[in-house]
Amino acid sequence: MDHFLYKNGVLHAEDVALADIAAQVGTPFYCYSTATLTRHYQLFTEALSPLPHLVCFSIKSLSNVAVLKVLGDLGAGMDVVSGGEYMRARAAGVPGEKIVFSGVGKIRAEMRLALTGGIRQFNVESEPEMRALSEVALGLGLVAPITIRVNPDVDAKTHEKISTGKKGDKFGIPISRAREVYAEAATLPGLKIVGIDVHIGSQLTSLEPFEAAYQKVAELTHALRADGHSIERLDLGGGLGIPYARDNNAPPLPIEYGAMVKRTVGDLGCEIQIEPGRLISGNAGILVASVIYVKDGEDRDFLIVDAGMNDLIRPAMYGAHHDIIPVNEAAAGAEQQPYDVVGPICESGDTFAKSRNLPPLREGALIVFRSAGAYGAVMSSEYNSRPLVPEVLVKDDHFAVIRARPTFDEMLSRDTIPEWL
Ligand code: LLP
Repeated sequence: MDHFLYKNGVLHAEDVALADIAAQVGTPFYCYSTATLTRHYQLFTEALSPLPHLVCFSIKSLSNVAVLKVLGDLGAGMDVVSGGEYMRARAAGVPGEKIVFSGVGKIRAEMRLALTGGIRQFNVESEPEMRALSEVALGLGLVAPITIRVNPDVDAKTHEKISTGKKGDKFGIPISRAREVYAEAATLPGLKIVGIDVHIGSQLTSLEPFEAAYQKVAELTHALRADGHSIERLDLGGGLGIPYARDNNAPPLPIEYGAMVKRTVGDLGCEIQIEPGRLISGNAGILVASVIYVKDGEDRDFLIVDAGMNDLIRPAMYGAHHDIIPVNEAAAGAEQQPYDVVGPICESGDTFAKSRNLPPLREGALIVFRSAGAYGAVMSSEYNSRPLVPEVLVKDDHFAVIRARPTFDEMLSRDTIPEWL
């Protein structure tokens, strides 16, 4: 459920008409709903209660500081994968003890940043990283709390580019070697083992792979405790999928996910951490664009819109589906016609949808790409020297620009011409 609904034939974000935002901000722009972000976060806390738990929002899915503040103020922790994300979490007022640092290639400067600024745990992904972290912590006279990310060799049955828990993926250490790696970690003076971490992929649409992975984590918890390690926390990663198309079989709900978590790891006496990104942010955001031209094609028309693959790359990169709807609601029973919805960028890959049935649309019409809150703005670029699109946050009947559209001058000011040219 989200808070982007038609009211009197016009699409609203909560109580704000999107046309009003478009008139003030211009298109394209991303628009997020505070109520939807809040609801989705709460679904997870409700699903995991009464287990002791912390829901750490995966910042990589949507990293605007205002959005992080919405979630941080509700009590959310944050999952970060870079020094930049760590700084964003802190800028949103999230204390270090609620921030977990994930990622397969943390550099020493990032370790130092998090250790001195405060950190809940590092999710360590390899032995060399573990040794480097111990050295960095010792150098600062500190001890780094760690989990080790295990790769459970489970097929997440999702898109190959976002599956991370199978043998051969670059993530984590093979679960079969976990005991020996934990044994070494216990000897490193700069580290303190606090738990186990696992994350098997993103946009999972079934609970089975999660369940298989978490069962393996439960077994490993017993084995590591028998080896004398203190396993207080389990970080179960993110990855629960969202419905992208209204006609799709909907993925399991957080409440069902929570019941499975309780079933598999609920009796281990561990604090449970999860790192959801997409489920919290995905359907809490849309991308609003305008039709520039309607171009007659041979067997269908092209809808050329002012958003491009640089603004929303998921269709070009993963062949992802995003529902497209007009801001002005089509009359009930109105004829639909197939369009190829394309952006202005100079590649054929800049195609959002092929033969998509939509009501007839004219130049200037506003359209919306749904489910664009996650991995939308964060993956955008200035390709074709198109300034990054603005982000807008709505709450009830008001909205604010939370990242402004840069002017051409601002965009160009980052380039410098050397003196010798
Ligand atoms: N934790 C870790 C360690 C991760 O690598 C990820 C996502 C998450 C949590 C959050 O997963 P989520 O709950 O959002 O599924 N750009 C791709 C998705 C990449 C996901 C990367 N890792 C897309 O647009 O589909």
